[in-house]
Amino acid sequence: MNNLFSDTTIKKLATAKRIGVLTGAGISAESGIPTFRGQDGLWQQLKPEELASVDGFMKNPRLVWQWYEYRREIIQHVKPNTGHFILADMEKCYPVFSLSTQNVDGLHFRAGSKNVLELHGNILVNRCHTCNKYIADVHFQNGSTPPRCDCGGLIRPGVVWFGETLPEEVLERSFTLACEADVYLSIGTSAQVYPAAMLPREAQQHGAYIIEINPERTPLSTAVDEFIPGKSGEVLPVLWNLVKPFVKV
Ligand code: APR
Repeated sequence: MNNLFSDTTIKKLATAKRIGVLTGAGISAESGIPTFRGQDGLWQQLKPEELASVDGFMKNPRLVWQWYEYRREIIQHVKPNTGHFILADMEKCYPVFSLSTQNVDGLHFRAGSKNVLELHGNILVNRCHTCNKYIADVHFQNGSTPPRCDCGGLIRPGVVWFGETLPEEVLERSFTLACEADVYLSIGTSAQVYPAAMLPREAQQHGAYIIEINPERTPLSTAVDEFIPGKSGEVLPVLWNLVKPFVKV
């Protein structure tokens, strides 16, 4: 018995065979990476369409590069937090555990998660905007123009921008696993950006028990089976501590 989570949540997690998870910027907030839409959110100061869109890149590639260099700099100096580590531990205990993330920071991998589906790409890789080839070792000096690929196209960060389609295979896999999940967790996302925001809803329509962890309510909150208010780095260890002893590995 506990006062924080319902018994149903504990039982569902203890008996589930297939777990699906969607994470957003909130899970990395406790690592020191600002979220997008919070009070200190990155979009409070900057316009997304100028920095995270093809139009923005074409209009001002230098500005867009500088913005991504700034974010890469932050990411390289932070570490995964307890929330990331708990999800990595959970993955080891369930026959099927899939983690779809909207984050481009790679922190789930750094925490040890293996089965990570990066819906919005990864900020630490670069690719050619024209031929799509992935390009390692791009050295961009602040203030200079973005480098070009052999084909002549501009090199850009390997992330998905507003108005672009998500990587097909990653999206398909995320939806398939959401539809097969017994329990689906939505963690640290404002649940406003589609198609990622559809994943917990799709899981629910296919019979999954839905848990949301977030300090604030979101458009998803009224629909979930249990909304757990709080920071993921604080809620997840307490929840997992209660559930783990009952999970048969
Ligand atoms: N633990 C859990 N959740 C938190 C925490 C925390 N410590 N701190 C903040 N949050 C919650 C906020 O309450 C908010 O609901 O995380 C959520 C972050 O929301 P957004 O900033 O909108 O981030 P996200 O949902 O990941 O955005 C989706 O939009 O522009 C983009 O491409 C970008 O992938 C991003 C997408």
